[in-house]
Amino acid sequence: MNSTILVTGGTGTLGRLVASRLRGGGYSVRVAGRHAPPPEQDIEFAQCDLDTGDGIEAALSGVRTVVHCAGTQKGDGDKARHLVAAASRADVTHLVFISVVGADTIPVKSRFDRAAFGYFASKRDAEEVVAGSGIPFSTLRATQFFELSLLTVRAMAKLPVIPVPKGFRFQPVDAGEVADRLVELALAQPAGLVPDLAGPVCYPMGELIRSYLAAAGLRRLLVPVHMPGHAAKAIRAGANLSEDRAVGRRTWEEFLTEQVSTAVRR
Ligand SMILES: NC(=O)c1ccc[n+]([C@@H]2O[C@H](COP(=O)([O-])OP(=O)(O)OC[C@H]3O[C@@H](n4cnc5c(N)ncnc54)[C@H](OP(=O)(O)O)[C@@H]3O)[C@@H](O)[C@H]2O)c1
Repeated sequence: MNSTILVTGGTGTLGRLVASRLRGGGYSVRVAGRHAPPPEQDIEFAQCDLDTGDGIEAALSGVRTVVHCAGTQKGDGDKARHLVAAASRADVTHLVFISVVGADTIPVKSRFDRAAFGYFASKRDAEEVVAGSGIPFSTLRATQFFELSLLTVRAMAKLPVIPVPKGFRFQPVDAGEVADRLVELALAQPAGLVPDLAGPVCYPMGELIRSYLAAAGLRRLLVPVHMPGHAAKAIRAGANLSEDRAVGRRTWEEFLTEQVSTAVRR
């Protein structure tokens, strides 16, 4: 009998996909997070808050593999600390962690960097906690998921005039493909830091926004703005991209056509 696999953040965009793939493969899966999924989904759920550590010990009962997908814009280092402390006392033998491309290359030095790009420092912190935990681990860095890119451009399109950071490019990737890779890692031996997973195409930010505007039938004025700071300079240099790891297959255009036409049909 296989032990239970715990998916932290298993109610989120990525974690849901990971949990359903594992369940589909016949594995026993428990999902952990602060808010329970709807009861009709019939998912084994453990309530826990990784910002405080509340509930994590019970969530880890009988678990040998953890796929750690819980994350927010800040504080992921502390979430990892709480998880790792409890996992070290439990029977966990493999910790699979999802990080972000740029965690190691986007410097967060000033207050402005921290306010706008503190996420990267927080993921770096979490990576270090995982790598230093003494628990065998696999860490994957991925670029932005299509869902987040869509959320971002949708929010920007609410403005009559859209400021576009000059020189910023993005390489969005399909969250389903990231989930496939995390499942593969979870079922294999711990591999440490593995090669990045990035989308097939890099887009200047203006192009991403324009593609959404065209798909949604909207017209907006785009105004280039210069973003100050160390982190922004690194992003202009491509630190958030992984051009030699453009291994994602599904394109942003395919995702957009499906998502935006679905939204119009609703
Ligand atoms: N989105 C991207 O483009 C992207 C790219 C690269 C890497 N990643 C990483 O991938 C992971 C998943 O991203 P996502 O887009 O799927 O995020 P998401 O949809 O926002 O889901 C986040 C999940 O984490 C849980 N969570 C948040 N705070 C928690 C806490 N304090 N304790 C326990 N659970 C908590 C949430 O559930 P509750 O709110 O119910 O607690 C939810 O299930 C994150 O670590 C993120 O940094 C994301």
